[in-house]
Amino acid sequence: MGEVAKLTFNGKTIDLPVIEGTEHEKGIDLAKLRSETGLITYDPGYMNSGACQSSITYIDGEAGILRYRGYPIEELAERSNFLEVSWLLLNGELPAKGALDGFAQDLRMHSMLHEDMKAFFNAFPKNAHPMAVGAAVVNAMSTFYQDSSDPSNPEHVRISTIRLLAKMPTIAAYCYKHSKGQPFIYPNNRLDYCSNFLHMMFATPCDEYVVDPAVARALDVLLILHADHEQNCSTSTVRMVGSSLANLFASISAGVAALWGPRHGGANQAVIEMLEEIAAEGISGKTFLEKCKDKNDTRRLMGFGHRVYKNYDPRAKIIKTVCMDVLSRMKRSSRLLDIAMELEGVALKDEYFVTRKLYPNVDFYSGIIYQAIGIPTDMFTVLFAMGRLPGWIAQWQELQKDPTNKIGRPRQIYTGATKRAYSPMDKR
Ligand code: SDX
Repeated sequence: MGEVAKLTFNGKTIDLPVIEGTEHEKGIDLAKLRSETGLITYDPGYMNSGACQSSITYIDGEAGILRYRGYPIEELAERSNFLEVSWLLLNGELPAKGALDGFAQDLRMHSMLHEDMKAFFNAFPKNAHPMAVGAAVVNAMSTFYQDSSDPSNPEHVRISTIRLLAKMPTIAAYCYKHSKGQPFIYPNNRLDYCSNFLHMMFATPCDEYVVDPAVARALDVLLILHADHEQNCSTSTVRMVGSSLANLFASISAGVAALWGPRHGGANQAVIEMLEEIAAEGISGKTFLEKCKDKNDTRRLMGFGHRVYKNYDPRAKIIKTVCMDVLSRMKRSSRLLDIAMELEGVALKDEYFVTRKLYPNVDFYSGIIYQAIGIPTDMFTVLFAMGRLPGWIAQWQELQKDPTNKIGRPRQIYTGATKRAYSPMDKR
C-alpha cells in the first residue's frame, strides 16, 4: 500500500490512497469518498482537482517548465517542426523519417474540403467571427464522414485524425477568404504545411503569393508552441464531450468553442485590442496598469496571468524572441510591440502583479507576430486552434484508450429552494 491521506469526518477516519506521477506530482484518489463519508469535494474551476492521468504533456507552473512527451518545449521549438511535434503528441515518440514522410503525405492527400462544404462558409455573414464558422464547419465534417466516426474503431479514429489535421488550415483560410469576399484558394500540395496555409490565405486567382520561408518558419514555431497544454479549458472540454462517446469532430468542435473565450485562447485577440486601445488613448503603460488593478474596472492586463504558471510562461519567452526576429527581418517596427514591452517591464516590477505571480502568457506577444504576417486580429484564435488541434486529438485518443474512462459528470452542492407544494395561479 502506498502513501495514504487520512480524512476524519463525523468521528470516522478513512484512508484515501495517494497516487504519484512520474514527475512526483501527488493526488488523492477520491473514488471511495462519497460511499464511505457521504461527502463530495467542492472545487469551483477545478483549481485543485485532477480529471485524469495523462502521459502527453507535463507542466511545472512554479518552475515555468513545459514538455511534450518529455521533450522540453525550448528544444522542440528550436529543432523540430509542427508535423513532427503533432506525430510526437499523437504517438508518444519522435517519428522515424519514413513515418514522418508518410504522415506529411497523408495530410497532403486530405487537405481539400468536400466541394459541398463551401456552402457552409457562404451561408455565414461576411462579418461572422471565424471561430463561430470554424466550430460549425468542424462539427459538420461528421456529416460528410458518417462511415468513419466511431470512437471505438481505430481505423475511423486514424482517418478522422488525418482529415482534421489536413483540413484545419483549409477551413481557417476559407473563413478568412469568405470574410474578404475573395474566392477560396485550393491547397497546393507542393508546399509544406505552413506555406500551404499562407498560400491559401493570401494568394488570389490573379496573384500568386510567394511565401517568405522565415515567415513560414515563424508560423511553424507558433503552432509548435500552441500544440498542447495538458488539461486547459478547451482540452478538458474535448475530453468531456469525448467521454460521452461523441465522435471526434463533435469533440473538437466543442474545443474550438471553448478556446474562443477571452479568458482562454481569445486572449491573443484581446491583447491586440488592448494594445491598440492604449495606443489610441495615448496613455502610458503605467496608467493603463492602474486601471487593470482597479477592482471597479473590468479591464485586465490581457495576455498576463495563468492558472498554472506562477512564473514566466516558457512559450511567451520564445514567442517574444520570434516576434523580434520576424519584425527585424521584415524591417518593420511595431508600436504595439513597444507598448507591450513597456507594459511587461512595468508589470513585472509592480507589487500587484508580483504578489499575484502574474507573468506574460502564451497570448501576450503572439498577436504581434500574426499582425506582422498579415493575419487579421479576429483570425488569431483560429491559429491558436490550428496549433492546439494535435494536442486536443491526442488527449481525446488517450481518453478513448483508457479502459477506466467513464462519462464525465461532476456533482454539485444544491443551494436552491427546499421542497414546496405547487401553488395555483390564483394563490400567487
Ligand atoms: C491561455 O490553462 C491553460 O493552460 C491555458 C493556455 C493554454 O495553452 O491552453 O495557457 C492558454 O488561456 C492563457 C491565458 C490567456 N488569458 C488571458 O491572458 C486573460 C487574462 N488573464 C486572466 O483572466 C487570468 O489570469 C486567467 C484566466 C488566465 C487565470 O485566472 P485564474 O487562475 O482563475 O486567476 P484569477 O482570475 O482568480 O486571478 C487571481 C488574481 C485576482 O485578483 P484578486 O481577486 O486576488 O485580487 O489575479 C488577478 C485577479 O483579479 N488577475 C489579474 C489578471 N489575471 C489575474 N489582474 C489583472 N490582469 C490580469 N491579467
